[in-house]
Amino acid sequence: MDRQGVAQAGEIIKAGGLVAFPTETVYGLGGDALNPYSSQKIYAAKGRPSDNPLIVHIAEFEALSRIVREIPPTAVELARRYWPGPLTMIFYKADCVPLATTGGLDTVAVRMPSHQTARALIAAAGGYVAAPSANRSGRPSPTSARYVIEDLDGRVDMIVDGGETDIGLESTIIDLTLDKPVILRPGYITEEMLEEVLGSVDVDTAAVENSHKAPRAPGMKYRHYAPKGSLTIVEGEEEQVMAFVNRQLSFYREKGSKSGVIATDETAKRYQADSVKSLGKRQDEQQIARHLFRALREFDDEGVEVIFAEGFRQGGIGTAVMNRLLKAAGHHVIKL
Ligand code: TXA
Ligand code: MG
Repeated sequence: MDRQGVAQAGEIIKAGGLVAFPTETVYGLGGDALNPYSSQKIYAAKGRPSDNPLIVHIAEFEALSRIVREIPPTAVELARRYWPGPLTMIFYKADCVPLATTGGLDTVAVRMPSHQTARALIAAAGGYVAAPSANRSGRPSPTSARYVIEDLDGRVDMIVDGGETDIGLESTIIDLTLDKPVILRPGYITEEMLEEVLGSVDVDTAAVENSHKAPRAPGMKYRHYAPKGSLTIVEGEEEQVMAFVNRQLSFYREKGSKSGVIATDETAKRYQADSVKSLGKRQDEQQIARHLFRALREFDDEGVEVIFAEGFRQGGIGTAVMNRLLKAAGHHVIKL
């Protein structure tokens, strides 16, 4: 870790500037969470609607009590188990958290990342860093510094390069302000893992199903992660999916459209597309999750116009993968 760089990043944020930095999930675009002008700058840099609240990142559990009205016992238990890590919890906010940071809500999302550089940077910045994913609004979240540069060069004061992120999908979000805890965004910390601590949890169905209901996390309502090409998910038995997609591909080849496929190690060689990307072994969900956003961005760089993706199992991390893929596809799914 570059200690001098981290100290400098901390000074920039304290002075009201913006720094993009790595976390274990995706890169974040950080500003002082307690400074409303910093939050406004974050929205402007991302081109993000300002009703879409930011996550406040902390470096130690003790920092939590200052920014929330109360800490329910369930949060203490969840923190003991999954913080630092890819879990965001929603609380009622304390007065010191500006509405500019929470998108006008009286609740605040808080996460303590496990990434060493991220934690050091948060501490150096005064302890409270608002950080959405460091992409331009609507694009896939960046999993390496080169994608942050692609989206935000010239719009931020500094970019900290920490190589590729480990998890590759954004944190799980759980709302603890309701009678029963509700998962608002699925992620690496799965429903099963949360139930180990909480007994039972609800899932905001608008966040995980193929529905058009308004989700409770404001950000989940926006089209997201969308590649420039049109993306269709094809679900069904493996051989049938390959046969169907290859028929489609030959149609687009004749039309002269550049095509791409999101596949797995088991199937990648059998697709006849201009660009075939394997996300990894089908059984290795962590690998699949890590590579999804990069694949979507690479299709853009290659100018791919039509993309087909295999579907993935719901359950475990697969639920988070399918949630992001469905949003990227604008919920366009063909079931064979
Ligand atoms: O892994 C992550 O969470 C990454 C890294 C950088 O930490 N951050 C991230 O932030 O994904 P962002 O802003 O891209 O996504 C935050 C999501 C949005 O969907 C937003 O609507 C929701 O969290 N959210 C934030 N505060 C909320 C609140 N008070 N109530 C409900 N949803 C909230
Ligand atoms: Mg985001």
